[in-house]
Amino acid sequence: MALLKILEYPDLRLKDMAVPVARVDRETLRLADDMAETMYDAPGIGLAAPQVAAGQRLVVVDVSDARNELLTLINPEIIVRSGEEEMKEGCLSVPGVLETVRRAEKVTVRALGLDGRPLEIEADGLLAVCLQHEIDHLNGTLFVDHLSRLRQNVIRRKAEKRLRHHG
Ligand code: NI
Repeated sequence: MALLKILEYPDLRLKDMAVPVARVDRETLRLADDMAETMYDAPGIGLAAPQVAAGQRLVVVDVSDARNELLTLINPEIIVRSGEEEMKEGCLSVPGVLETVRRAEKVTVRALGLDGRPLEIEADGLLAVCLQHEIDHLNGTLFVDHLSRLRQNVIRRKAEKRLRHHG
């Protein structure tokens, strides 16, 4: 396993649309392993492949307190969404920023598991928010894209300043 470098906003690669995983093979498993290790090390509760410059539709998520409920989802899709809620979110690609985002309260997600078999997850609460956030990444959308233009400009200026100072 290996720790992967996490791209940081406003890196334009985070805006790219990820492509579906055509076949779950050894490379897919290795990427999933490395992403899980990188997420736990950060530490974070979710990580999408585009955040580590791998433009594939793959996410890892673990919202458990004990950090022992890893979910690896390949080609995940939200097939049902209902309700509305607001939660404070952050992102490993946008360090130091926490903002309230409005999302669906409940979602049903269809995906392939690491064994290549289809699975469905019904989620609410933090898991529902996390799944929507990670699946957004696969479509080149960051949580800050849900904020007002004014707020986005403030965050972008802050991020650019930080990158200038730290390389
Ligand atoms: Ni994120």
